[in-house]
Amino acid sequence: MKKITKAIIPAAGLGTRFLPVTKSLPKEMLPIIDTPNIYYIIKEAVLAGITDFLIIVSRNKTAIEDFFDINYELEMRLKNSGKEKELEMIHEVANIANIQYVHQKEPAGLGDAILYGESFIGDDDAFAVLLGDDLISYEEKSAIGELIDAYNKTQGTILGCKEVPLEMTKKYGIVTPKDDPSKEIFEIKDMVEKPKENPPSNIAVLGRYILPNEIFKILKETKIGVGGELQLTDAIKNSLNNRSCYACKFTGERYDIGDKFGYIKATIDYALKRDDLKNKVLEYLQQLLK
Ligand code: UTP
Repeated sequence: MKKITKAIIPAAGLGTRFLPVTKSLPKEMLPIIDTPNIYYIIKEAVLAGITDFLIIVSRNKTAIEDFFDINYELEMRLKNSGKEKELEMIHEVANIANIQYVHQKEPAGLGDAILYGESFIGDDDAFAVLLGDDLISYEEKSAIGELIDAYNKTQGTILGCKEVPLEMTKKYGIVTPKDDPSKEIFEIKDMVEKPKENPPSNIAVLGRYILPNEIFKILKETKIGVGGELQLTDAIKNSLNNRSCYACKFTGERYDIGDKFGYIKATIDYALKRDDLKNKVLEYLQQLLK
């Protein structure tokens, strides 16, 4: 079995929940303090052994490519003014991994975005998908690393999951467990996208996947779904007869930075983790509470 070394990051959605900024800036570029969200996500995957990335981008949004590109002029200026620390920082960004880009012609859904990755994945058995608007904190093992471990044990499709409050289940894809859902990794028999009532569990699929190569064939055979989009959830459901699918409950905290409140929470929590900001931010929050 070949190691998982490739990841697809779909970042071509419309980002309507974060307009107007997302008119020209992909939400994946929204900064958490001074670092775009997508950089945290690539670091999470690199830590798990991913070396090659394909980012699915949309037209008129070149900010992601510019961010990971080498900027000679800036490098020269930093060098000439002796800003070694900053120079090192931007070198690290440009050299983090092999990154390729492809433009999704229209926002025809997450399933459609992933189909653009077929030739990039080639004949690899499986690959990782990380949604660019889900930020997941980690300490030693990253969320996608936990999913890769689950794949190595099961060879199944792996969905990154987390328990959510029952009243929130209508916002997510919710899994129907086949075996004991209290386990870290458990098999599922179905999933329901945004159930309006009677959710089959309170375990939601949140932005991280390990998908088998055959998903491309299945996506091509999957009918256009909700919102006139090709839905990844529908393709995964169609694959359940042929390949087992597991929920892997990752340990990190997850933030939906495509949502304004989720973005604010991530900003505060990440500021509180930083030595240069922690005390000032805490003091300010305490002042507000008074
Ligand atoms: P979302 O549904 O969260 O993204 O898609 P969205 O449509 O951009 O957001 P809102 O709801 O309008 O605010 C999940 C992920 O799939 C990508 C998005 O960029 C996001 O990372 N995506 C979605 C694509 O790349 N292409 C698509 O056609 C749809």
